[in-house]
Amino acid sequence: MASAMAASAIGFAGGASAADVKEVQMLHWWTSGGEAAALNVLKQDLAKEGYTWKDVPVAGGGGEGAMTALKAMVAAGNPPTASQILGYYAVDYAEAGKLGDITSLADKEGWAKVVPTALQKFTTTNGKWDAVPVNIHSVNWIWLNKAAMEKIGGTQPKTFDDFVALLDKAKKAGIIPLALGGQPWQEATLFDSVVASTGGIDFYKKAFIDLDESALKSDTMKKSFDNLAKLRAYTDPNYAGRDWNLATAMVIKGDALVQVMGDWAKGEFVNAHQQADKDFLCYRFPGTDGSVIYNTDMFAMFNVPEDRKAAQLALADATMSISFQSAFNVVKGSVPARMDVPDTAFDSCGKKGIADVKAANADGKFVGSMAQNYAQPPAVAGAYHDVVTKFFHGEIKSSDAAVTELVKALNNAK
Ligand code: BGC
Repeated sequence: MASAMAASAIGFAGGASAADVKEVQMLHWWTSGGEAAALNVLKQDLAKEGYTWKDVPVAGGGGEGAMTALKAMVAAGNPPTASQILGYYAVDYAEAGKLGDITSLADKEGWAKVVPTALQKFTTTNGKWDAVPVNIHSVNWIWLNKAAMEKIGGTQPKTFDDFVALLDKAKKAGIIPLALGGQPWQEATLFDSVVASTGGIDFYKKAFIDLDESALKSDTMKKSFDNLAKLRAYTDPNYAGRDWNLATAMVIKGDALVQVMGDWAKGEFVNAHQQADKDFLCYRFPGTDGSVIYNTDMFAMFNVPEDRKAAQLALADATMSISFQSAFNVVKGSVPARMDVPDTAFDSCGKKGIADVKAANADGKFVGSMAQNYAQPPAVAGAYHDVVTKFFHGEIKSSDAAVTELVKALNNAK
């Protein structure tokens, strides 16, 4: 196996052999306008190297549908060349022996020196590279329409209470305060930020990384649910089931003031030809400045037949190039997963994102998103989505009950 991989790596470096299939088949959930534009950067890079692209798109933000489709393909013994994947999903496939080995390329290119150690937990298994990080997204951002902000005389909210006061102002001015996509993964993604804001990042870590029961049961967690309920009062009545990018479009058009969303939202602003500081503003979710709650899109490299390995290595190599990490992430809204990519091509939000990742990483404030499968395995994250969404939609009626349900659900899923 190791020698076959080495042979492929050499084959790739020196030009693939005639028997190789010159096609990359990739499963992903990048189907919004901004996401598709970012993916085009990759398709074009690979086309330049002579690889055709076999697209396997599975719509649905957060990737739940994509993960179901992937599971079926892998179970049928027909995995894609690579799949977009988040956190512990990759760990599960690696542990099940479903991923390949691209270590020779990783060593040759020195990835271990440029990718944050926290991420390497997900891109390697027992020291072997089996996935590549495309980007670093983070969930603790808010995105505002600048003209709407000026209209209401709003200023950057620094605390959760400031944020509520700002939403109130928008409401009084007849602007929808909060553009929300009412789908479980989106509400859970919002709750990640609310918890970090309410309790601080150390509390977030205790609760979601350590699953510390006293933190999960605490008054701080109750207060986090209270705060989440406060935000519910600022949505429009049609939020249930709405896709995340339609919520972003409400802010782009100025129908709504703000969306709380990971920085893939910026990809939609960019795709609509809007500019940071001129048309839209980005701030960290109030009360979380200095912390980065991350979710990195990775391409998991599956065990593929020998004649597809050169294509897989070409994909990995292209993805990890400095120029791609810049060009792709400028369009996607995320920041590079390599720490040695210059921020020159990025707008002010991207520059802040890059600086934030470095600072948070140095300060121990770079933490995985619970909602996005970077804090816990999928079953636990799914249980979290479930409780948050039931609370948000009123099926769980109080913060007290939500905390009880959360502890129960997480314990069952562990
Ligand atoms: C992914 C992003 C994607 C977003 C919405 C997140 O889980 O990490 O790349 O843009 O879902 O589809």
